[in-house]
Amino acid sequence: MVSEIKYEPIDFVLFGTLGDLARRKLLPSLYQLEKANLLHEGTKIIGVARQELSDQEFINTVRENFEKFITEDICEKTWTRFITRLNIVSIDMTQTSDYKKLCEHVDKKRVMVCYFATPPSIFGDICIGMNSAGVIDSSVRVVLEKPIGHDFESSTVINDQVAEFFTEKQIYRIDHYLGKETVLNLIALRFANSIFATNWDHNCIDHVQISVAESVGIEGRWGYFDDAGQMRDMVQNHLLQILSLIAMEPPTTLDADSIRDEKLKVLKALRPINASNIEQKTVRGQYASGFVAGKEVPGYLEESDANEKSKTETFVAIKAEIDNWRWAGVPFYLRTGKRLPTKASEVVIYFKRQPHNLFSDSFATLPANKLVIRLQPEEGVEVTVMNKVPGLTSSGSMNLQKSKLDLSFSEEFSDRRIADAYEKLLLEVMIGNQALFVRRDEVEQAWRWADSIIEAWNNNTELPETYQAGTWGPVSSIGLLAREDRSWYESKLKKKK
Ligand code: BG6
Repeated sequence: MVSEIKYEPIDFVLFGTLGDLARRKLLPSLYQLEKANLLHEGTKIIGVARQELSDQEFINTVRENFEKFITEDICEKTWTRFITRLNIVSIDMTQTSDYKKLCEHVDKKRVMVCYFATPPSIFGDICIGMNSAGVIDSSVRVVLEKPIGHDFESSTVINDQVAEFFTEKQIYRIDHYLGKETVLNLIALRFANSIFATNWDHNCIDHVQISVAESVGIEGRWGYFDDAGQMRDMVQNHLLQILSLIAMEPPTTLDADSIRDEKLKVLKALRPINASNIEQKTVRGQYASGFVAGKEVPGYLEESDANEKSKTETFVAIKAEIDNWRWAGVPFYLRTGKRLPTKASEVVIYFKRQPHNLFSDSFATLPANKLVIRLQPEEGVEVTVMNKVPGLTSSGSMNLQKSKLDLSFSEEFSDRRIADAYEKLLLEVMIGNQALFVRRDEVEQAWRWADSIIEAWNNNTELPETYQAGTWGPVSSIGLLAREDRSWYESKLKKKK
């Protein structure tokens, strides 16, 4: 096969190759890139794990995982090509002397991409080990999986450890939401359409809602999750990244630093939430038992390995405000939770109402236009507009109704498969484009904002409010908007129950 790939062949070293992320996401994504002919024919994949496995045993394990985690039939032609790239090397990642084994597998004349799909507590050990094996030079790229720390301080420690060996230009911090097609489409929608250029500010927009609902619970990750909570697990990274893309100023170009500079400015302009305003601006909840999709599920405190006294939040709603020229007075309501009725992520932009209502016969209050961006599932974009109902009336008045201009990606692009976020991000690392990765200053700024909220919660004697699994979170989340005469947009999400 003649490769048309524009980037160089890569030695792709996957630390934690037998771990959950590698099995579920990373190796299947590399396979999909293979299938789409997007892997350079000279690229090698070197799995690193503590266990001693032969290459053939590794290949067998990868196949078993593909059968489990790839929903379509495995393409045997692709598989045959893919396995010629696979090798495994057994390294105890905390033992510096072990890393010399890597030298037999990588070629210093080629670009090496090292993916740290391991707990961040050993990122430093991996860097030290690689350094002692002499495999680090300025062409090496490292990919860091979230969470980058637990708060600002611990993120600094991790970032410092990695920065001892790699420059910022070599570091790719993953937030997988930045690889989702629809999240990327936020950039296209805003900056490739002049209709959104002049009305994207406080003059025209009333408020913005960002909802990331999950129907899953903790799925055996209680130890990790109880320490993190929904604020660290979802808001500090995914929701703030979406918010930044919606709120940022137009970057000068699409290059990595232009985009990241603009996102950083948004994060810096977020109004702090602390003990003085925590009760007005935030709601946190914890799920009790209930029913999701007709199935009975246990409450958070009844999950296996649970600490029955845990105060960890599994639901968060926040009224965020951006103190800058463009967004003064426009609240960004964020909402995310586990064990909600369905898995669905949406951004809803509520435009301001018309100043004067000419159609009071049909609508006492003329509804505002809404732009709904469905991030997942049923990816698409929808605009609600007011429309004349066709037909004659004897009263001489004009009947209006709300209609939707609905662009469903699955209908519009029915011949295209929507790539998983990790496929996009792995490809970008191989190409060497950092635009979709989070820069150190962004991570740190996001932590500063999140830390202040977490600290205010920790100092507050109130517990998270309980909500029944399979509902949309605590009642106070409705109150957060209702006291400003607004409500959560739920029509599409509700339909999916
Ligand atoms: C991860 C969180 O970053 O994102 C998980 O750790 C969460 O708790 C997941 O379930 C959600 O990602 P997605 O792509 O399924 O929306």
